[in-house]
Amino acid sequence: MSDQQNVYPVRDDFAANAWADKAKYEAMYQQSIDDPEGFWAEQAKRLDWIKAPSKIKNTSFARDNVDIRWFEDGLLNVSANCLDRHLDKRGDQTAIIWEGDNPDDSKHITYRELYARTNQLANALKELGIGKGDTVTLYMPMIPEAAMAMLACSRIGAVHSVVFGGFSPDAVAQRVIGADSKLVITADESVRGGKHVPLKENVDAALTRDGTDVCKNVLVVKRTGGEIDWKEGRDVWFDELVDKQSSECEPEAMGAEDPLFILYTSGSTGAPKGLKHTTGGYLTYAAMTHQYVFDYQEGEIYWCTADVGWVTGHSYIVYGPLANGATTLMFEGVPSYPTHGRMGDIVDKHNVNILYTAPTAVRALMAHGDNVMDSSKRDTLRLLGSVGEPINPEAWEWFYRVIGNEKCPIVDTWWQTETGGIMIAPLPGATPLKPGSATVPFFGVKPALVDNEGNKLEGATEGNLVILDAWPGQARSIWGDHERYVQTYFSTYDGMYFTGDGCRRDEDGYYWITGRVDDVLNVSGHRMGTAEIESSLVAHSAVAEAAVVGFPHDIKGQGIYIYVTLNDGIEATDELKKELTQWVRKDIGPIASPDVIQWAPGLPKTRSGKIMRRILRKIAANECDGLGDTSTLADPSVVDELIEHRANQ
Ligand code: PRX
Repeated sequence: MSDQQNVYPVRDDFAANAWADKAKYEAMYQQSIDDPEGFWAEQAKRLDWIKAPSKIKNTSFARDNVDIRWFEDGLLNVSANCLDRHLDKRGDQTAIIWEGDNPDDSKHITYRELYARTNQLANALKELGIGKGDTVTLYMPMIPEAAMAMLACSRIGAVHSVVFGGFSPDAVAQRVIGADSKLVITADESVRGGKHVPLKENVDAALTRDGTDVCKNVLVVKRTGGEIDWKEGRDVWFDELVDKQSSECEPEAMGAEDPLFILYTSGSTGAPKGLKHTTGGYLTYAAMTHQYVFDYQEGEIYWCTADVGWVTGHSYIVYGPLANGATTLMFEGVPSYPTHGRMGDIVDKHNVNILYTAPTAVRALMAHGDNVMDSSKRDTLRLLGSVGEPINPEAWEWFYRVIGNEKCPIVDTWWQTETGGIMIAPLPGATPLKPGSATVPFFGVKPALVDNEGNKLEGATEGNLVILDAWPGQARSIWGDHERYVQTYFSTYDGMYFTGDGCRRDEDGYYWITGRVDDVLNVSGHRMGTAEIESSLVAHSAVAEAAVVGFPHDIKGQGIYIYVTLNDGIEATDELKKELTQWVRKDIGPIASPDVIQWAPGLPKTRSGKIMRRILRKIAANECDGLGDTSTLADPSVVDELIEHRANQ
């Protein structure tokens, strides 16, 4: 494979007008590494501080003392930075364009309107007894009230925990308990692709689980008017409570290291963990990356297609864009409804300039052929972005050619829930592009590749991706379990943050993410732990044992392949496969739907009982010739059996 095959040089108009050209990127990057204190002290000035920080960086990655603080003596309020400070200059500018699931539904919300409604909601939260340091769970559709709820929490110093609307009642319950949430904000139903999802019903079910009685109220937005149950004394209609509040609410002065939000994500072991993000560093980093990576220019219409339930929605639908006074588009629906041309139609309808989406969405469109976008021109587009998983060069080229009309650079952005913001990505005025590579580090980011022993590898090579020093946007801890945070990210290689990703670096110093090296799957850009799916399956009475691996999938990037050993006397039927599929969907959510289930009378295990996933991954990928050494297995014959009965995908 040649990295040099297709290099897209920086376009002259970008180099001339962008926030950074090559020389500026290089100078700023060097300064950010040589003098992080000076660099970030300067960058912190992009925010309005109630008290400006005098201490800038106080961070340690040492295994026995992981402690990360940025701007620690500064005071600020996030909602004031996203709203109040824009009122004079751009109060009447649109802050949020909302595009409903139904193409006839859309609205524009100005900064002034967003300010007023957010303040009303903040006062409503106070009336419900929510104050500084309390946590609030949001389980919401992609409607403006979701952004308002995040901002309203930040206004009064409450900590939000957004749960993706596709998760199950059990997942909601787990997160309400984990974050000790006194309040859940939801809607009667969400609408996606013409279908209604019963959010309130899911919350009702979640709140019957043991331990959820910490939650005292449910605030319900009326989105569809669909029928719902109502629990007097607990449930409150959003509009009824919010309409009557004052539209002024004094912003709480928060310490830079006070928590802003918790966001749960999957790891290789155990239940999902709630990453803790804090206030000053996070917002500085989200705003700066949004400005430079998307080269955001005053007045532009910016659209990130993620859901607010994921970190991408937090940093690049809500906080980064609003801190920068941008117009951010929020889309309730799905790219395939009512037609596969919908994304292009939305671009034309709202004159979108910057489109940030996921490889899986690009591949799904690509499967419909080049004419899929014929209903739109998309000539307002200036820049494209990609996030969530590696983008294969073929999808990159198609994205560039068909969606971007061969005139928009693509910024492939590598980052994680843990990193808070973009870490490796091109700057469109500075970095020549190579399809499939996330290219080079952002300011202040020191990536390195190490072997399995933690030795640093130099030059063009491949290894485990680590980050050598702290950056302001990074998660500070796992909510309620700092030791797990240290174990997960800082114990593999002492003094380094381990990303869990494998990566190649080419001779130009470009980074090419090769995917997870742990037991984490990335299915359509959604991150899932194999252990979570396995523990769901073994809770079914028919299942003795289960092993879950990923396999290459044309559209989803990775699919979910499950090997199941049944209990004695249970018949292996197609009906049972369907039942297990439903079981996992109900337990975790539809995003965890298995693609393939294979009955496995035995699983390949070492003599000490450890499942050899490497072998299972190969069989799932239909690479049965390269299984490597199987002689250490307790019973090598199970491998032949699995190959012989390999499921048809
Ligand atoms: O494996 C990497 C992949 O997604 C993981 C992070 O997932 P999550 O925390 O859900 O955040 C997704 C959105 C930031 C990473 O460990 N990943 C993310 N972006 C890219 C990527 N892999 C390759 N290229 C990317 N641009």
